[in-house]
Amino acid sequence: MGKIILFTNVKGGVGKTTLCSIFATYLSQNGRPVAVVDADIQQSISRHRKRDLEDNPRLPLPWQVKTLVGMSTEEVADALVNLKKLSCDIIIDCPGNIIDPNLKAIYSNADIAVVPIHYDGDTLDASLDFIQMFHAKFRAKMFFVPNAISGIEENNKKIKAMRDATHELLDDYGVLTARIKRTNVVSDYSTLEPLNYMKKNAVKYPFEPIIKELEKGGVN
Ligand SMILES: Nc1ncnc2c1ncn2[C@@H]1O[C@H](COP(=O)(O)OP(=O)(O)O)[C@@H](O)[C@H]1O
Ligand SMILES: [Mg+2]
Repeated sequence: MGKIILFTNVKGGVGKTTLCSIFATYLSQNGRPVAVVDADIQQSISRHRKRDLEDNPRLPLPWQVKTLVGMSTEEVADALVNLKKLSCDIIIDCPGNIIDPNLKAIYSNADIAVVPIHYDGDTLDASLDFIQMFHAKFRAKMFFVPNAISGIEENNKKIKAMRDATHELLDDYGVLTARIKRTNVVSDYSTLEPLNYMKKNAVKYPFEPIIKELEKGGVN
């Protein structure tokens, strides 16, 4: 049986959709079959796939995109039961708010939650509240991925202090991974094409511990 992996945070714009798609491609390229579920009402990943297919209609699909949008809470719960029966991992792109009534079913069924974070005061505060709430209510193992980190941010004293303080707090709730740089190597991604050497390298260190956790339950 596959596992359910979420890309989630209460904040929008932290890289949930981008990293969700790249993670799905990374896994399928490594020979692990995956399906992606678009649970965001904005349907970003579904739209991205549609555009990619318009540009490259002949490319084979590395992974399918399924949507939960428009379903009632009961339908979402049923869909999750059926998704869990598939012999592949399920990667879910979650919406950037937690008032979505379907999130409870999604969160309760998750094995792993990947939480992209960003180093600015607002994002860290909101992310930390979210992480504490998630940890108190759900069983999924959390991975925090600092994303879109620029050189300036890596060296800024104030940000460094904030980052160190946050890392200490995060320790209680999950695993902090290596960071992903702010670069168009990451932002210019395709939902169809395999990752090239540069793209793989940009995400390899943060993704490795997550994949290790996935493989704990045995390869499908
Ligand atoms: N590592 C990165 N480097 C540069 N740009 C990034 C990176 N990660 C995400 N972005 C950009 O940040 C914006 C928000 O990313 P997105 O994945 O849509 O976030 P979310 O799904 O959390 O709202 C997008 O314009 C995306 O291209
Ligand atoms: Mg998104």
